[in-house]
Amino acid sequence: MPKIERLSGREILDSRGRPTVLATCLLDGGALASASVPSGASTGTAEAFELRDGDDRRYRGLGCRRAAINISGVLHDALSRKSFSGQAALDQAMIALDGTPNKSNIGANAILAVSVAYARACAVQKGVPLYQHFADLMHADANKLPRLTINLFSGGKHAGQQVSVQDVLIIPMSASTIDEVLVSASDVYQAAADLILHKYGMRLLTADEGGLAPPCRSAEEMLELAIKAIQQAGYRPGKDIFLGIDVAASHFYREHRYHKDGEVLDSAAMIQTITQWLELYPILSVEDGLAEDDWQNWPSLRRAIAGRALTLGDDLLCTNPRRILRAIEVSACDALLLKVNQIGTLTEALEAYQQARAAGWAVTLSVRSGETEDNWAADLAVGWGADQFKNGSIRQSERLAKYNRLLEIEESTHWPLAAWPRRS
Ligand code: PGA
Ligand code: ZN
Repeated sequence: MPKIERLSGREILDSRGRPTVLATCLLDGGALASASVPSGASTGTAEAFELRDGDDRRYRGLGCRRAAINISGVLHDALSRKSFSGQAALDQAMIALDGTPNKSNIGANAILAVSVAYARACAVQKGVPLYQHFADLMHADANKLPRLTINLFSGGKHAGQQVSVQDVLIIPMSASTIDEVLVSASDVYQAAADLILHKYGMRLLTADEGGLAPPCRSAEEMLELAIKAIQQAGYRPGKDIFLGIDVAASHFYREHRYHKDGEVLDSAAMIQTITQWLELYPILSVEDGLAEDDWQNWPSLRRAIAGRALTLGDDLLCTNPRRILRAIEVSACDALLLKVNQIGTLTEALEAYQQARAAGWAVTLSVRSGETEDNWAADLAVGWGADQFKNGSIRQSERLAKYNRLLEIEESTHWPLAAWPRRS
């Protein structure tokens, strides 16, 4: 395997105008590549640690200079000119060097930037597309493209909490290529923008991931609006286009109660609310329907919606192999939302992915609400064969960089879209 010749880090800005970090990796064979990492806002408490400067004089304390210096300094010093057998060995070395369970010493942002920059440099050195190299890391062949779950409406932490539920997503199912999926998503998005203008007199205002943020009073109103937008755009809800939701329930759960759009619900009532949504709307995927520490009620949620919609764990699992194992043991979910920066290295993310697959779960690869123009997540979704790719809305360059990369991969491979996971 190639040796690292040089690692360097730089503070850059993400799609919210907040600092994040970019790593550049030069291999001894001359291959050079960079990668930058995203950052969440609606974060799970078990996520790996993002190192920020805490200096209030810069970016309200959110600066990433220390993380960048850790790349050029401690990581470069420890890793350059050493032989690693591959990605796993490099990632293990960084984990050992950090020495904490959540990467709080060096920073998960610094470590992940190096993990991905190294992978990309190895792909350059091999002369293969990045998705191919990601597939090689798991000793599998890539042969399909992920279904897209595309943010239409936003609430929760991404939109000032005007509605408790965080995302209403559209899932184009009759489209058979990425190209067709994007066309239909754009049609629905434009129809939704027109509807919002008519109904609320509101011009196009978008949330962190580019989703529309209408002043709805409830999740139900937002779901109704999504159905209308699909129809107005000339598609059939539940035939051509389905829905997904990210309830992000951790963020309105206090003292064992869900404070949803002015109602106060216990866990059983929250599950009942979700099952009612499934009866009224063609919802295929329910992410974080319950809070991250409401473990005991997740199995009931899964049982209540199994066969109709995926029970997708985001904050609950935090892409953490230990939490995923626990969820498998108690049958809390049947799908993993995989966000690589929740855990902090490609190797641990791959372990999480393989655990989920071994349990027969579906996998949605997801980006974050604070993203950069880097498009490696699109290659990862293809290379690892994720069932779905959750990349926010169909606008803003940090989102489009990934969609445009999928179009490029589609053009060169002609691979089919993944089938929707069987509903058990
Ligand atoms: P985040 O949220 O990237 O702001 O953490 C996305 C999600 O909850 O899926
Ligand atoms: Zn989520």
